Amino acid sequence: MGLLKLDIYHVRNIQQQSIKPSEHINFIFGENASGKSSILEAIYILGRAKSFRSASIKSVINTQQQHLVVAGQLSHQHQIQQLGIQLDGKAIEIHINRQPSQKRADLAYALPLQLIHPKSYELLDAGPQIRREFLDWGVFNHDEHFLQAWRRFKKALSQRNSLLKSKQSQQLNVWDKELAYYGTIVDVSRRQYLSNLKPVFLEIIKKFLDFEYLDISLVSGWDTEIPLLQLLEADLDRDLRYGFTHSGPHRADFLITVNKQLAKDFVSRGQLKLLVLSLKLAQVQLLANKQNAMSCILIDDFAAELDISNRAKLLEFLADLPCQVFITATEMADFGSVELIKNYRLFHVEQGNIKQL
Ligand SMILES: Nc1ncnc2c1ncn2[C@@H]1O[C@H](COP(=O)(O)OP(=O)(O)O)[C@@H](O)[C@H]1O
Ligand SMILES: [Mg+2]
Repeated sequence: MGLLKLDIYHVRNIQQQSIKPSEHINFIFGENASGKSSILEAIYILGRAKSFRSASIKSVINTQQQHLVVAGQLSHQHQIQQLGIQLDGKAIEIHINRQPSQKRADLAYALPLQLIHPKSYELLDAGPQIRREFLDWGVFNHDEHFLQAWRRFKKALSQRNSLLKSKQSQQLNVWDKELAYYGTIVDVSRRQYLSNLKPVFLEIIKKFLDFEYLDISLVSGWDTEIPLLQLLEADLDRDLRYGFTHSGPHRADFLITVNKQLAKDFVSRGQLKLLVLSLKLAQVQLLANKQNAMSCILIDDFAAELDISNRAKLLEFLADLPCQVFITATEMADFGSVELIKNYRLFHVEQGNIKQL
């Protein structure tokens, strides 16, 4: 399962390239500024319809061109699927099996991507937003009902907040019910997911770190002993005063603790990186355990972030993972003992040209 063919047009310094990746591990090496990250960016665009490096897609499009195109042929459950995306900085055109689609979520279901790059390590450092996104990526791929509940919750929240801002408390009642109903589903799905993720995470982290009392737990965003609807009603005065909803799953977070202390206040930078890496691998492993699911891991700047011994451990882990992987580094030697991998392909990038070796 995975991308069998990838066509990239006009993504940064890549004009027009086509590659046939391995369904397991793909090593991509080349000098600085040769276009390695741009390949991963193209794959990311295919799965998420956005870049992981630039907020504006305009800067990703080759400077001499008006639009970019990424197309992929995926094998999934013994069927071939065609994905295509064209972006011109304003409009997005998505094609799945040559049929136009309006939904980014369709792409994301077809090609679940996990990205590990230098900025990923902010996961445990930055504000709760990126941890919620991380968690929801997992829930979204795990529980097919989640997206619908999440969307209805978001809509109710935004309606409620605009009524609060304009002090129209008489209409709040309807949205309170909707928010509480779908918000509770979102919370239950997250909790369920995290309880599945936890043992997988604790098993993986053991390969990299030796922590005795490591824990991961969900913060719901309200005191779940009290029904959310009741809390929304009790909070009304405060919510009206501030013009936003204080309680609900939009305030959720998850915490990693080591010896009952928050990991980010307790562990070293290097250890924090390994915690994040293990969390991401745990999500992929959990998805791989699920029948008929596939996912694709993108690892940018392999050597910049991990020392030799952890790189070897990571590669050993990936070798056994039924997953497609793309890894970049400047030197081939940075990948370590690639012979351990049964089914790998090696690509060299030079000035936007990709050659399979
Ligand atoms: N919109 C663009 N059009 C053309 N070239 C670009 C564009 N954006 C970035 N580049 C160039 O593309 C090259 C490849 O960048 P990148 O993929 O980050 O390289 P690597 O990851 O191999 O170091 C760089 O030289 C960069 O300056
Ligand atoms: Mg790069």
